[in-house]
Amino acid sequence: MARPDIAWLPGDGIGGEVLEAARLVLDSSGFEASYIPGDIGWEFWRKEGTPLPDRTIELLRSTDCALLGAVTSKPNADAIRELPERFRAKGVRYSGAVLRIRRMFDLYTCLRPCRAYPGNPGNRTEGIDITIFRENTEGMYSGAEWDKIPQELYNIRGMERVPRQAAITVRAVTRKASIRIAKAAFAHALEAPRAEVAPKPPTAVNGGAKHRVTAVHKANIMRATDGVFLAATREVAQGYPEVEYEEMLVDACAMQLVRDPLRFDIIVTTNLFGDILSDLCAQLVGGMGFAPSANLGDDYAMFEPSHGSAPDIAGQGIANPVAAVLSAGMMLEWLGEKDRADRVERAVAEVVREGRVRTPDMGGPDGTMAMATAIAVKLKQGT
Ligand code: NAI
Ligand code: MG
Repeated sequence: MARPDIAWLPGDGIGGEVLEAARLVLDSSGFEASYIPGDIGWEFWRKEGTPLPDRTIELLRSTDCALLGAVTSKPNADAIRELPERFRAKGVRYSGAVLRIRRMFDLYTCLRPCRAYPGNPGNRTEGIDITIFRENTEGMYSGAEWDKIPQELYNIRGMERVPRQAAITVRAVTRKASIRIAKAAFAHALEAPRAEVAPKPPTAVNGGAKHRVTAVHKANIMRATDGVFLAATREVAQGYPEVEYEEMLVDACAMQLVRDPLRFDIIVTTNLFGDILSDLCAQLVGGMGFAPSANLGDDYAMFEPSHGSAPDIAGQGIANPVAAVLSAGMMLEWLGEKDRADRVERAVAEVVREGRVRTPDMGGPDGTMAMATAIAVKLKQGT
């Protein structure tokens, strides 16, 4: 792509701070693009009654991909309280911006790599390199929810088990979405590792040739939905005999991730489990400041750090920009700039290894832009 158009979405809280840092790194990599800023987040919910104005949707439609900082998104009662009366009177309901974009643009793969960059003081164990493939369009995030169950739903068999006063969320799992997320995970397993930045100790599963995909589920309880998911992952696994395949219950997986993170390689799972486990995995490799993510569809993609707007540290210039920088690196790769993406990741790894610049989450005194500058300098030195 000659000079891509990128929707630039800072959002709320530390979102703008980490994107500014990512931009410094992108520029110093020599990457050329048009960055077109877009409005998104809580500020626009409060001012315009939507966190995702139509003009932003148009912007996404007219660009090649998007880079998002983070958005604040509060529970319903708070959302309504902060909404101006004129919107409240119209019965406006909050609908999360990120979720809407994922669904609207069918960004069905949420790819979340969690790598222990050598020397990171937050590494639980050196050598962790886990990639999570989270289904990104359905599951518990289907968006079908009722605070009071509509009467007609009680006519469905099985609903007699649900108390009358319950609120419900529909967990939707389709064969189509399960097959495609499984395919994405197995296809990834066949690809060569992106960069040797987190070399595996000999005991690690993928220290050798074979990759392992772990399908994470709760099919012993959510038999219908996770039954569909598991049937799909098993079917796809059969097409990849060179990849080791295993299944694990989500609660056991959480335990195993803490007990023996090196046994994991690629995890494929449904939406909510992927959301939770990816935060757990992020903490194994230094926390949310080290957790990049990509939302990938067939025609569009949005890249964003996995963390939120972090109101507790916003405005202080101390957020760790590495997650945003690595997300920008994933964007470069998606845009066909793999060498440049590798260089960005190597520069991050080198700065972490040297340990001269560290943000407070790493136990250091340095700020967001100091970290970004160190990465940018490394990049220019051509590590
Ligand atoms: P959070 O990820 O914003 O923060 C969790 C903790 O991690 C906080 O202590 C924060 O200071 C720390 N942290 C996060 N990113 C960091 C970074 N780059 N460097 C250093 N420390 C970092 O999650 P939280 O507090 O649950 O949510 C805050 C808001 O963000 C909420 O409104 C939530 O809905 C929203 N959110 C948005 C997401 C998105 O934009 N995709 C994802 C997750 C949460
Ligand atoms: Mg999350």
